[in-house]
Amino acid sequence: MKKYAVLTSGGDAPGMNAAIRAVVRSGLEKGWEMFGVRNGFAGLISGNFVQMGPRDVGGIMQKGGTILGSARSLEFKTLDGQRKAIRSLNSAGIDGLFVIGGNGSQTGSYMLSKLKFPVVGIASTIDNDLFGSDTTIGVDTALNVALEAVDRLKVTASSHQRAFLLEVMGRDCGYLALMTALAGGAEAVIIPEVKVSPEDIAEILGKAYEKGKAHAIVIVAEGAEYNAEKLSAYFKEHHDRLGFDLRVAILGHIQRGGTPSAYDRILASRLGSGAVEAMAKGETGVLIGWVHSKLKSTPLEIVVNSKKEIDRSLVDLARILD
Ligand code: F6P
Repeated sequence: MKKYAVLTSGGDAPGMNAAIRAVVRSGLEKGWEMFGVRNGFAGLISGNFVQMGPRDVGGIMQKGGTILGSARSLEFKTLDGQRKAIRSLNSAGIDGLFVIGGNGSQTGSYMLSKLKFPVVGIASTIDNDLFGSDTTIGVDTALNVALEAVDRLKVTASSHQRAFLLEVMGRDCGYLALMTALAGGAEAVIIPEVKVSPEDIAEILGKAYEKGKAHAIVIVAEGAEYNAEKLSAYFKEHHDRLGFDLRVAILGHIQRGGTPSAYDRILASRLGSGAVEAMAKGETGVLIGWVHSKLKSTPLEIVVNSKKEIDRSLVDLARILD
């Protein structure tokens, strides 16, 4: 009987459990033996496998995070670590591996596939910065968490006529910040992809005040040149000239927790089962993503060597609609 394993890696994302469930149940349906790997690539190196039956993935769809655990393994980034992982897989008799994760994780998948181990990746990260999938597992939920924060901030900001800075996650990519700004009707957005100075922000906030707005919300991606810390320091330093305070709220890991949305559960179910179909056909060394509302497999080599661009017209749209 063929044996396959699944792991989750990198930052956890709401919907990962639905993807684990889809991989395990679709694999069992094919008559395979299914295993989970605990704690991502670190667990792969130490051979931390656990056999999974249909009941082991029951009642997990509605849970955020990952029941398998995740990790960012430095050892796995080395060739020695990757070889150790393949030795663990071989000694457990595993025929192929499913990797649920984002950019760093799929780089790991690519490394294993270059060493000739069959791997299929499943697109999952709240950042939505993975090439090969228009949207990734976890984005929709994280976006809705950020949006709820904006709605709540607006209430208190309006009551006090205050300006707020909300920092959302996004190390190298402003997708979450941009969409939060668009959906939340923020006055300004600061993302790594578009250069903006604190003086530009001061001008936008000044105009919001002139328009008679009772509040002003600026959404900033953590990876922007001027993140919450730097921007608020700038505003403090130039307080007398600029004339107002910028209060700060940092959402951080709150965005990654919570109940996965219907969209993320469905996306995860489709990508997970699509990954099993790809593995069954011998189509490995690929990422299964969602492109133009369809499952799409993209070679991992292309995925890890390409950059997903944000739609810059949405930056203009957010500005026009503020
Ligand atoms: O990649 C997802 C992400 O949530 C990023 O937005 C963030 O920069 C990073 O993970 C945080 O990683 P960690 O949880 O390891 O601090």
